[in-house]
Amino acid sequence: MSCVVLESERLLLRKWNDEDAAAVEDIYLKPEVMEFIPGGVWSPERTARVIARMRELDVEQGFGFYPVVVKSLGKIIGHCRLGFLEQTPEIEVAYVLDSPYWGQGYASEAARAMIDHGFLRLNILRIVAVAFPENVRSIGVMRSIGMTPLGTAHHFGATLVKYEASKAGAA
Ligand SMILES: CC(C)(COP(=O)(O)OP(=O)(O)OC[C@H]1O[C@@H](n2cnc3c(N)ncnc32)[C@H](O)[C@@H]1OP(=O)(O)O)[C@@H](O)C(=O)NCCC(=O)NCCS
Repeated sequence: MSCVVLESERLLLRKWNDEDAAAVEDIYLKPEVMEFIPGGVWSPERTARVIARMRELDVEQGFGFYPVVVKSLGKIIGHCRLGFLEQTPEIEVAYVLDSPYWGQGYASEAARAMIDHGFLRLNILRIVAVAFPENVRSIGVMRSIGMTPLGTAHHFGATLVKYEASKAGAA
C-alpha cells in the first residue's frame, strides 16, 4: 500500500514503491521532458538509481523527490521534489512532468502543495526555485503559484532565473 505524503485537489504525492522505477522510466527518456534538466535524458538504470537514492534521502532528511499521481487516473505523471539546491543550504522546489500532461495546471498544483507542505509540516521558512531563462513553462509555474522573482543566479554551471517563496510571518 502506498504511503501518501500530501494530497491536493487532483493529485497525490506519495512514497515510491519498488515497482515505480519501471513505470516511470519512459518519462525520463524523453528529450522534450529533459531538455532543461542538467545532463539531459536518464537511462532506465539511472532512473532506478536516482529513485533509490531519493528514497534513502527521504528517510535521512524527511523530504525529497516524490511521484506525482493523478488521482482520477491512478497514474504517475512525473515527480515533484523538495531538496537542497546544489552546494547551498537553500531548499528548492522542482518538478518534472510527462509531456502529455503539460498545460493542465498539474505542476502548479503539485508545487503549491509541496511548498505548503514544506512551510506547514516541515517548518521550512524559505523555498526557492530555479530554471533556465528559456524554460518558460517552468518559470510559468513559479509565477502562477505566486513566487517572487529574484533575478538571475549562478547554479549548475549556468545563469538561471531564480524565484523564492517565504513562509507567512517569516523574516
Ligand atoms: C515545467 C513543467 C513542470 C510545467 O508543467 P505544467 O503542468 O505544464 O505547468 P502548469 O500547467 O501548471 O502551467 C504553469 C504556468 O505556466 C504557463 N505556461 C504553460 N506553458 C507555457 C508556455 N509554453 N509559455 C508560457 N507560459 C506557459 C501556464 O499558463 C501556467 O500559468 P497560469 O497558471 O498563469 O496559466 C513541465 O513543462 C515539465 O515537466 N517540463 C519539463 C521538465 C522541466 O523543465 N522541469 C523544470 C525544471 S526547472
